[in-house]
Amino acid sequence: MNIMAGAPGRLITVAGIDGAGKSTLATSLHAALKDSKNRAILVGKHTTEVAMSADLSEYVDSVNAVVYRRKPSVGAACGNHYWLFALAAWYTLQDQLIIRPALRAGVHVILDNAHHKILARYAVCPNIPADLARHLFAHLTTPDLVLFLHVTAEEALRRKGGFSALEAGGTGSTGEAFISYQTRVTEELRRQATGATWASIDVTSKDAAVVLAETLTLLSDRLDIQIPEHLAKTDNEGGVAWSS
Ligand SMILES: Nc1ncnc2c1ncn2[C@@H]1O[C@H](COP(=O)(O)OP(=O)(O)O)[C@@H](O)[C@H]1O
Ligand SMILES: [Mg+2]
Repeated sequence: MNIMAGAPGRLITVAGIDGAGKSTLATSLHAALKDSKNRAILVGKHTTEVAMSADLSEYVDSVNAVVYRRKPSVGAACGNHYWLFALAAWYTLQDQLIIRPALRAGVHVILDNAHHKILARYAVCPNIPADLARHLFAHLTTPDLVLFLHVTAEEALRRKGGFSALEAGGTGSTGEAFISYQTRVTEELRRQATGATWASIDVTSKDAAVVLAETLTLLSDRLDIQIPEHLAKTDNEGGVAWSS
């Protein structure tokens, strides 16, 4: 355990295109941190619990339902501007009510599904000014480390098997539509990946255990968070199950 009394937690976010393995890594990294007695929470698109507040948890859950639990036909009808604002509201609440309080309490936060993918999606979306999306997310807590999982769109498609209309940018339902859209999203993520806190990991031909091992080395080198190697379990070794 290397958190000194009073030291804030670190925000570690996982970025990459759909199918890169973000949720898989976030889940196993969270487990490894907990097993090594680091205080950590895993925050993702289904996280709605606000510590010690039933009222706020209920409210966050209701916003989550508005943003993520709606019928596909509703998605298309509301249009790109609405979803940008709805997502900005969601990420703002998540930051204000879940992430910042945890960091202040000395708890590390693993953030799956961070807003970088949303920014990249909107950057390739016609009729939304690129600056608008950037400004809407600019106030969110800056991560201490962004793990950018780089995978080819072809490999992402193989891993996923299928995909939603949104994951092809509404450009069609063929594999080619997914690949060409996600390739453009990758270019946008690369453009964002310029800061010193970004660490790119080429995961295209690495299994989940190798990706986790490289991540633990990065945590040790960049954030001085130490996790003994024997605690770095993945599905392959009968440890943490992969999840999407
Ligand atoms: N390193 C890896 N090698 C091969 N398959 C993987 C790897 N990491 C994850 N997967 C599989 O790829 C699929 C997508 O992974 P997931 O973690 O859900 O991606 P994301 O959250 O980035 O969309 C899942 O079926 C998962 O089991
Ligand atoms: Mg995921």
